Amino acid sequence: MDRAVNILAIETSCDETSAAVVSNGREVISNIISTQINIHKKFGGVVPEVASRKHLENISQVIDLALSDAKMDYKDLHGIAVTYGPGLVGALLIGLTTAKALAYGRNLPLLAVNHIEGHIYANFIEHKELEPPFVCLVASGGHSHIIKVLDYGVFEVMGKTRDDAAGEAFDKVARTLGLGYPGGPLIDKAAKAGKADAIDFPRAYLEEGSFDFSFSGLKSSVLNYLNNMKMKGLEINKSDVAASFQESIVDVLSDKLIAAAITAKSPYAVLAGGVAANSRLREELLKKGTENNIKVLYPSPILCTDNAAMIGCAGYYKYIKGEVSPLSINAIPNLRI
Ligand code: KG4
Ligand code: ZN
Repeated sequence: MDRAVNILAIETSCDETSAAVVSNGREVISNIISTQINIHKKFGGVVPEVASRKHLENISQVIDLALSDAKMDYKDLHGIAVTYGPGLVGALLIGLTTAKALAYGRNLPLLAVNHIEGHIYANFIEHKELEPPFVCLVASGGHSHIIKVLDYGVFEVMGKTRDDAAGEAFDKVARTLGLGYPGGPLIDKAAKAGKADAIDFPRAYLEEGSFDFSFSGLKSSVLNYLNNMKMKGLEINKSDVAASFQESIVDVLSDKLIAAAITAKSPYAVLAGGVAANSRLREELLKKGTENNIKVLYPSPILCTDNAAMIGCAGYYKYIKGEVSPLSINAIPNLRI
């Protein structure tokens, strides 16, 4: 007798074509991620039109693989979850229209999921004991938010970036340093060979008590430093620049997340999104968490970056609440949480 609720999830908001089968919200049965990184690398960033075309080419095979990996058929499923925003509109539409067609054709409920919400839910997969309320920092290529998770699907934004997202800053600085794309993992790696206190880059804490972020000043400061060094004919130590830049971001992200957890009286400081894969950020948060008696949680790296399993988890909680989306739902590129 199988009473599990199985959700097929689809994620195509940026440059990962992903499909997963998630059982009872927190058990990942399969999670297929087809990345386009090697294609976009040549251009130094994601080319939206190319991303849409690649999603279209791959989506059917990725879904078939997710089902065969899970040893399941459509008759074993209870719903189709899909990201409908935020993200690149053309990319989102490939996943969304596919999900709509499957939901209609197989008579299954459509569960439209906010991508940012999905990132938070990756932690429910990784940490079976985690329950709301808690405070979570979602830091990725497109967003940097500190969110109070009051209940499943109930959020309060405590702060967010006023300009660049944290991952965007990593990507831009890596490009300027000639490290390549995507910048986050490359800076993380380069920083290991550098000195974090080599260059004193700025840390934007903004107004007292603010949980907002601003990374554009830091980005300009790195650019100015590199231009100055070039003009003076001095050699640039890329590892030192990477380590010092990373330290500046890590200080602000970790200080603000811990301060937000203290303010919200959250026993947990939770990390999510691509930047949550950063080794220095994890290390620093664990230290500050221990000092403040706050438990720091983050997903394994594969669940930090874009994947459909996290969307399946969020879709499950919508399913059990009966929050079914109409087939008329559209992609919303700037969807907020
Ligand atoms: O969540 P994600 O896969 O996609 C978005 O929703 O944006 O995040 C991608 C971002 C990129 O900016 C990438 O450079 C960054 O996450 N990232 C990292 C690391 N791994 C990925 N940033 C810092 N350190 C890392 N190890
Ligand atoms: Zn993402």
